[in-house]
Amino acid sequence: MSQHSCMSQDNEQAKSAEERAWELVSQMSLAEKIGQMTQVNGGSHELHQAIREGLVGSVLNEVNVEEVNELQRVAMLESRLGIPLLIGRDVIHGFKTIFPIPLGQAASWDIDAVERGAAIAAAEAASSGINWTFAPMIDITRDPRWGRIAESLGEDPYLCGVLGAAMVRGFQGDRLSNRESIAACAKHFAGYGAVEGGLDYNTANIPENELRNVYLRPFKDALDAGVATFMSSFSDLNGVPAAGNGFLFKEVLREEWDFNGFVVSDWDAIRELTVHGFTANDRDAVREAVNAGIDMEMASGLYREYLPELIAQDYVDEQQIDNMVCHILKLKFQLGLFDNPYTDPGRFPRCVNEEHLQAARAAAMRSCVLLKNDQATLPLSKEQLDSVAVIGPLADDGYEQLGTWVFDGESHHSHTCLQAIHELVGEDLEVRWARGMETSRCRNHDGFHEAVQIAEESDVVLMFMGEESILSGEAHCRAEIDLPGNQEQLIDAIAATGTPVVLVIMAGRPLTLQNVADKVSALLYAWHPGTMGGPAIADLLFGIESPSGKLPVTFPRLVGQIPIYYSRKNTGRPASHDSITHIDDIDGKAAQTSLGMSAFHLDAGFTPLFPFGYGLSYARFEYRDIETSATHIALGDNIDITATLHNTGDCTAEEIVQLYVRDLVGDVTRPVKELKGFRRIRLKPGESKRVSFNLHTDELAFYNRKMSLVTEPGLFHAWIGGSSETELGTEFEIVASPQVAD
Ligand code: BGC
Repeated sequence: MSQHSCMSQDNEQAKSAEERAWELVSQMSLAEKIGQMTQVNGGSHELHQAIREGLVGSVLNEVNVEEVNELQRVAMLESRLGIPLLIGRDVIHGFKTIFPIPLGQAASWDIDAVERGAAIAAAEAASSGINWTFAPMIDITRDPRWGRIAESLGEDPYLCGVLGAAMVRGFQGDRLSNRESIAACAKHFAGYGAVEGGLDYNTANIPENELRNVYLRPFKDALDAGVATFMSSFSDLNGVPAAGNGFLFKEVLREEWDFNGFVVSDWDAIRELTVHGFTANDRDAVREAVNAGIDMEMASGLYREYLPELIAQDYVDEQQIDNMVCHILKLKFQLGLFDNPYTDPGRFPRCVNEEHLQAARAAAMRSCVLLKNDQATLPLSKEQLDSVAVIGPLADDGYEQLGTWVFDGESHHSHTCLQAIHELVGEDLEVRWARGMETSRCRNHDGFHEAVQIAEESDVVLMFMGEESILSGEAHCRAEIDLPGNQEQLIDAIAATGTPVVLVIMAGRPLTLQNVADKVSALLYAWHPGTMGGPAIADLLFGIESPSGKLPVTFPRLVGQIPIYYSRKNTGRPASHDSITHIDDIDGKAAQTSLGMSAFHLDAGFTPLFPFGYGLSYARFEYRDIETSATHIALGDNIDITATLHNTGDCTAEEIVQLYVRDLVGDVTRPVKELKGFRRIRLKPGESKRVSFNLHTDELAFYNRKMSLVTEPGLFHAWIGGSSETELGTEFEIVASPQVAD
């Protein structure tokens, strides 16, 4: 079914859901209305009674299906109006079958795989009675110190928007009322990814223009994909914490974007308005949050406590409460909960079934990014090797490969790299194994000797290093983002044996790898790959398939370069390779103006270690012959931008072809490059293909100084290639008049 026809069906359904919701609102007492606006954590003794009294609209974190059914039974049969519950849960990258962390999924640039992953997560979660996930997380972030980068889809608004919309479609399916669909939640609105210092819960200051051009954009894409709910951010945005930010929720979300779902606060975020210093007490916090447009309150119970008196004293309008309750009830109707709120797990596909595992394996394989491969060290050949040494704390740890936010994932389902390598090579190769370090943070050398010994005895070393799951995710930020513990020392010791080293990193963020990248022959970035990480990585290492992931985020050389991202502004003094000097090369008593006077760091230069969009393959892809369908186009027209992709290597592989554009002059300055399209293309050796992107001038629009969304006439550069550093470029011009002679 086309997206358009699904959406119009959903609109139809929404209309009757809205009518039914209003009918119900008209029968509700004030306490029952406020009850619908209240979400409580599962598991408390008083929960049943509160539901019976109509004081709870939603429960989060209850995943025992018998208990969920019992809660629904109490709500339906024992409360006065029989209103079913929304059962919310953080189903972030899988429920029982764990897919790669979202940042890893973003590295696949694979829209279908991301949608499928969300659909599987939804089906598995729905079998436990969950009908609402707090995902996708679509905060743009350019700071790998922030632990929640793991949950994000990276630094780029276009990539994040496209993949976030795919997740929404995956979770929600064709219709919310399908048995295997659950409601999605676009979070965290907005600006959370820009927290200062990459420190969780910190303040974000984002000029409105930048907010609209970068941070809000993926949320608009999620909305266009039909996302049912939004969640407010914890953070203070330009002095107004999101949970009390009427500009975000009323002006932008409701008035400009016409959102007709509902908004939930983040956990306890309304109470935190007072901690922020935005309100004097809980009562004021509730007034600000409701008046800002937060329909449902998560966890603290403050709406129940203070809304009655705020309404009685006219600080809050009851009509507004009715609207908010209607938003919430409408979703319950759309989900079909009034008709059947109960879950029979027997009517769902089994969790962690073979099909789900294979989808997770494919997703993990497509998420891995090959960052270095000197002398074609990879793929390994079973025929040419006698032995491999497998070393590292993450080689055989089913829990740590799952990553952050796996409330329901179980490590006993995991297939580790060590297991998968054994299975893949069978008797063909001798596999020697040493953990080397107890954990990724270990600060002793106890395991080094054994690891060095097996490295010396083997033809090649496969090292599995990185971060344990707990080092990324919410509230898990790092100020240094190198390999923790003694990992660099272990790599040094192994590299000193002279045996070629293939380093596989599992981590929740980009790490600063400048010190180790030079010491290893090959470097594969696997993020936290999930349940099927082992077989996916083993297949790549032994060339069953070629790596095809591309970085969804820039890798800095040093922490001090952060924020470093590809779509930066040019500045008045951009650096070039000829204009920079390294700190070690400065002459004594050098004159003040002798160093080039451009935008670079004396100790890090101006380039990242690995740029956005970068990733190698076992094939060799060449790009050539870029052209546009016209040199001039009028506003409102389309243009085709086309280049040839050629596989000059000797294996079949997939390449992610990327289109970038620069608007040379703008009412506000425009980035030096912006991603505008991408395609995954599979080519056999020797095969080539013309790859075309069709761009409408609306896709070149940006918010100007007056906060209007405009496409400005003028000159544009366009590039096609395999990373954001592609230099295969062309140009075209947009003219204001529709009568254009080409
Ligand atoms: C997080 C949200 C999450 C919520 C419920 C909060 O701490 O910020 O992303 O959905 O908890 O678990």
